[in-house]
Amino acid sequence: MMSYTLITGATSGIGLEMAKLLAAKQQNLIITARHDDKLQSVATMLREAGTGDIKYYAADLAQNGEASRLYQTIIEDGLHVTTLVNNAGVGLYGNFTDTYLADELAMIQLNVGSVVTLTKHFARDMVANGSGRIMNVASLLSFLPFPYYSVYSATKAFILAFSETLAAELEDTGVIVTTLCPGPTDTPFNTDAMWRTNAYKANKPMTADAVAATAVRLLLNGRGKKIVGFNNWFISNLPRITPDKLMMKIKKRLASPASQ
Ligand SMILES: NC(=O)c1ccc[n+]([C@@H]2O[C@H](COP(=O)([O-])OP(=O)(O)OC[C@H]3O[C@@H](n4cnc5c(N)ncnc54)[C@H](OP(=O)(O)O)[C@@H]3O)[C@@H](O)[C@H]2O)c1
Repeated sequence: MMSYTLITGATSGIGLEMAKLLAAKQQNLIITARHDDKLQSVATMLREAGTGDIKYYAADLAQNGEASRLYQTIIEDGLHVTTLVNNAGVGLYGNFTDTYLADELAMIQLNVGSVVTLTKHFARDMVANGSGRIMNVASLLSFLPFPYYSVYSATKAFILAFSETLAAELEDTGVIVTTLCPGPTDTPFNTDAMWRTNAYKANKPMTADAVAATAVRLLLNGRGKKIVGFNNWFISNLPRITPDKLMMKIKKRLASPASQ
């Protein structure tokens, strides 16, 4: 039976670059995102990049029930997923009292609800088969919750906690769960307002292909969590040596608009 790697959010940014690298390694891929036209053109490009089979499914994973529906469709189509990459995610920057609750709830469904749902379904199958890999994309903010990204930071703290505990639970099952923690990365994820903050001036975003190269290494051979890039690794450790109050003050400044 052919084995597939399922990548969510594979039409842009880190997910797209990962898909390109995996296609070049002749892997069979299932890619998913919301927009059919984009999926179709990415699938065509991936088919030219390697010899693996490339399937795609459109799904809006911010909607309740869509992750389970996606799983059912993949099973009904007889595809055997041995590797799952929970990459799709959105950010939200702004004063919590100004941002829209509907956007926050949709983000929680996408960044958290659908990750748990896809992991639940596929992890059960993988455990039954005695092997598999799941990689969840968290963030530097999993370690450093930032003001003005309160709900986003919380979704990524969830992903880190969920992935690390699940990795330990599944230790002896043959299923390996890893967590990728990128710092700022130059993708459409970032809005103009995010680009204007001190954080992006102080810690230059990495390119999506550099992040994807680390991601693919972690996915194929790694264990545990990986903070991408030395700078980000260093920053993630600052809370260990910095008093909480001072740390939050620094983060609030970093997340504020830079004065020109
Ligand atoms: N960029 C950064 O600075 C950064 C830093 C740390 C962590 N991350 C994390 O890295 C992951 C990938 O981010 P990225 O920067 O590569 O983002 P991106 O370039 O904006 O790509 C996001 C992908 O997710 C898909 N997507 C968005 N909303 C969706 C929905 N409702 N349902 C299904 N798919 C959806 C998008 O396709 P459609 O729009 O067509 O659906 C796209 O393929 C995210 O989990 C993000 O939180 C990013």
